Amino acid sequence: MGTVLSVENLSTYFKTEKGIAKAVENVSFTVKEGEMLGIIGESGCGKTTVAQSILRLIEYPGKVVSGDVHLNGKNIMKLSDSQLSDLRWKELSVIPQSAMNALNPVYTVGDQIMEAILLHEKVSKKDAELRVKKLLELVGIKGDRWKSYPHEFSGGMKQRVAIAMALACNPKLVISDESTTGLDVLTQAQVIALIKDLQRKLNLSVILISHDLPMVTAICDRIVIMYAGRIVEWASTKDILKDARHPYSSALLKATPDLADPDREVISIPGSVPNLVNPPKGCRFETRCAFAMERCKIENPVLREVKPGHFTACFLEEGEGNHHG
Ligand SMILES: Nc1ncnc2c1ncn2[C@@H]1O[C@H](COP(=O)(O)OP(=O)(O)OP(=O)(O)O)[C@@H](O)[C@H]1O
Ligand code: SF4
Ligand SMILES: [Mg+2]
Repeated sequence: MGTVLSVENLSTYFKTEKGIAKAVENVSFTVKEGEMLGIIGESGCGKTTVAQSILRLIEYPGKVVSGDVHLNGKNIMKLSDSQLSDLRWKELSVIPQSAMNALNPVYTVGDQIMEAILLHEKVSKKDAELRVKKLLELVGIKGDRWKSYPHEFSGGMKQRVAIAMALACNPKLVISDESTTGLDVLTQAQVIALIKDLQRKLNLSVILISHDLPMVTAICDRIVIMYAGRIVEWASTKDILKDARHPYSSALLKATPDLADPDREVISIPGSVPNLVNPPKGCRFETRCAFAMERCKIENPVLREVKPGHFTACFLEEGEGNHHG
């Protein structure tokens, strides 16, 4: 599987009244062709900032201060605005958090999807129309509903239309950032199942950002765990579940109810994510870590490969394969 996206040393800061918030610092990871990559971590850990940086949507008071993002070999950070606009439809697209952000209430859904196709691709109106119907059917909506207005659909169906819209110009990579927020639990599960199904059918690469660890472990191939703006662990889902190496990853797993083992005790993580203006100098998890040592206060552990394809940033892993609980 080739690499579709590579993010290298990405750092994004926000200017705030209290100083510079280092929201994302030195983040590097890749997404392979046809892969579903999950990004997980508590609120405020920088997940959305990573996604928005990749999409070049960071605006003042935010700024990408360093890093490169390559999509199919092109450096996104160096594209002109018009190249970027094309790329956002044809190579990389977003499933919005709320369908209403993507859909205009005064046009039929078919017209909106068609406009996107005609704007970015040289196809006839007739072919575009055909594609709209196929796209709607792909997301489980009858093609003849294309003349309906957004308000004629339920919340879950609107989200399906938003997904069809994101796929209008056959992107290779789709980013979903909490894109089922606001839907009821059952509809959320259906929309997530649809995203998974489309990923398989179309061999899409997907970045799935969520707080929902059980959902992410159920459908993602690999998982990036972020804490306070940094990646603390990046591994296959199997390794995250069976062989998590970072104390934060282990704590997150223990803090999540296990449906397969409802009797297992759920232990919440004490303390909270540090303020990213003046974050701890050393390991950012130090104040909450049961294994913290003196050096963790001063030095910053870098992300390193502890076994093939499994990366973590913790001093405990610098010994000869020390394990912890
Ligand atoms: N517009 C902004 N102005 C100032 N600081 C910001 C802004 N947006 C984000 N930040 C900073 O970036 C950090 C990361 O925010 P981000 O929204 O990326 O986190 P997240 O992991 O997506 O959280 P959530 O799970 O709540 O969506 C925040 O803790 C905050 O310090
Ligand atoms: S580097 Fe130190 S403080 Fe950070 S997670 Fe590892 S043991 Fe805990
Ligand atoms: Mg977010």
